[in-house]
Amino acid sequence: MSSGSGPARVRPVTIRDFIARKASDERLVVVTAYDALFGRLVDESGVDAVLVGDSLGNVVAGLDSTLPVTLDQMIYHGRIVRRGVARALLIVDMPFLTYQVSVEQAMLNCGRVMQETGAQAVKLEGGSPEIARAVRAVTGLGVPVMGHLGFTPQSVHALGGPRVQAREREAADRLKDEACRLEDAGAFAIVLELIPAAVAAEVTAAISIPTIGIGAGASCDGQVLVLPDLLGLNDRFTPKFLKRYASLADDVRGAVGRFRDDVREGRYPDDDHSF
Ligand code: KIV
Repeated sequence: MSSGSGPARVRPVTIRDFIARKASDERLVVVTAYDALFGRLVDESGVDAVLVGDSLGNVVAGLDSTLPVTLDQMIYHGRIVRRGVARALLIVDMPFLTYQVSVEQAMLNCGRVMQETGAQAVKLEGGSPEIARAVRAVTGLGVPVMGHLGFTPQSVHALGGPRVQAREREAADRLKDEACRLEDAGAFAIVLELIPAAVAAEVTAAISIPTIGIGAGASCDGQVLVLPDLLGLNDRFTPKFLKRYASLADDVRGAVGRFRDDVREGRYPDDDHSF
């Protein structure tokens, strides 16, 4: 029975819901957001999780990599996205050099993100034994961790650019081992970025936690896209895997151009828009 006033309360998505979807036919949907307005719009669209990605370095700050993104910047964006997201699981990316140096550093920084943003989980890149140790320690604190394998943007220079990973058998086996290691360390899901669809299918079958693909084919348990890419706002980014669901860059240029013309030609503001 409703109490009568105020907005209907929604049950937030939890990591238990997330993991349970591995066994269902319904794929998980994850989209990035970087502010409260788009966080709300994405949440109202019915996605399962909102990721405050360190891709904000590229798509918000105009940088050419995620490496300069700082912990304070991620906390700021995590906190403002939190204000818009009521239902979806909220995950915040841990930026470069905030979890790789030591287990203690990972625990303190992941704990800080959880305390200061209100997120329900963090995401860490990599699958080495050192990263797995950090994942185990952070999950031991009670902080859910999403992993990220394949092309890991914080290693862009070591990987020689944004290239498809694990094309060779040996590298594919290594990636599968890393996924198993992350699952064993307690990760609740793993992003697989830029790997052959067949390798993503193998990894997805090898682990009992969900895989979330981006440029990793159709066999993953879910898919993630970066919001400005999906919306066609970031129209200079044209990778093969990207499908655009709108052309907002054209809409923005068109709308602002019509405003410019109206102002210059004295059509705005007219009587209808004046006091
Ligand atoms: O930073 C990000 O937006 C990401 C996604 C591409 C998965 O890590």
